[in-house]
Amino acid sequence: MSGFFMRKILVTGGCGYIGSHTIVDLIQTGYEVISVDNNSRSNPNILLGIEQITGKKIKNYKVDLCNYDDLFAIFLENTDIIGVIHFAAYKAVEESVINPLLYFENNITSLVNLLKCVQEFKTPYFVFSSSCTVYGNSKEIPVTENTSLQQAESPYGLTKQMGEQIVAAFAKSSGLKTIILRYFNPAGAHPSNIIGEMPLGKPQNLVPAITQTAAGRIPKMLVNGSDYATRDGSCIRDYIHVCDLATAHTLSLKYLEEEKNKTQCEVFNLGSGNGVTVLEAIHAFEKVSGVKLNYEIGPRRSGDVEAIFANNDLAKKTLNWNPKFTIDEIMDTAWRWELLLKADETVFKSQPGELN
Ligand code: WQD
Repeated sequence: MSGFFMRKILVTGGCGYIGSHTIVDLIQTGYEVISVDNNSRSNPNILLGIEQITGKKIKNYKVDLCNYDDLFAIFLENTDIIGVIHFAAYKAVEESVINPLLYFENNITSLVNLLKCVQEFKTPYFVFSSSCTVYGNSKEIPVTENTSLQQAESPYGLTKQMGEQIVAAFAKSSGLKTIILRYFNPAGAHPSNIIGEMPLGKPQNLVPAITQTAAGRIPKMLVNGSDYATRDGSCIRDYIHVCDLATAHTLSLKYLEEEKNKTQCEVFNLGSGNGVTVLEAIHAFEKVSGVKLNYEIGPRRSGDVEAIFANNDLAKKTLNWNPKFTIDEIMDTAWRWELLLKADETVFKSQPGELN
């Protein structure tokens, strides 16, 4: 449209699981989007899937955010960026315990470089991807945004706590309008079944572990402990559909653009508000898929918190966010996506040359 300027958003980690689903929602809400993702832990072919769903080709700059000069060049080429959504980070809890410096270097350097560019180019809005892991092993359940943060359970969790403090301090000093979003347990796939989660290697997370076991890619799944003080002995989590998460990011940008923010840095819990045990999640999957899951009870996993789920009232009230996917729909979309992966019928099998 002549004269109609498209509000351009830079999404870091746009080829990742939550990043790709958020790009779909941003486009469908009328934003223009560019991605920066070095594809060290993501597949650029997911951009083909985004194009299939939205009809839009997304430009991805294959750049490492830890390289300041390369990142600066992207901002120089796109001086019309009005907002940044920062997803790109390493997020494997166990790996962070084994190699903490890798996590501090990658997750913190990339954030600082990004904020330096935001400062240089006076980008007005910034949304930071955080995690419920910042609450640690909280005794106050469900957690609200004011629940005090315990000692991080892993170096990964520590990088999220540090990241939040860096964003808050920079917002205060620079006047940048920021929002911090604390995800609970992201799961599920886009209802179109064209994009979904692509865990690298053996999945650590529950839902892909369930679907890969059901698809026969894993012989048997272990339930990590059934002697917790919960209703059935297994851990309680708050599973939130990736599309509900995506919508919250678009609503966050809208909230900032409309200057509704009360302070320079506001924090929101993005969870369904429902606590579900591991065994309940398995039973939901069996009900939805009709597949009997091959699992057995194993020992507790170190670092697991017994129970955590969100009080999501603040995001619902302030951002006008209404998560709508149920645990059954999470399992249904995750299962349909797994079957496509098993049939090797996804965009990921396309040859990279087909990207352009
Ligand atoms: C959930 C429950 C497991 C696999 C982690 C990160 C968090 C975020 C989400 C990045 C636990 C149990 C799992 C299996 C099992 N990641 N489980 N058998 O640990 O709550 O959160 O992922 O942002 O930061 O900490 O999620 O899905 O790994 O585990 O019994 O094969 O499922 O022990 O109780 P978690 P999860």
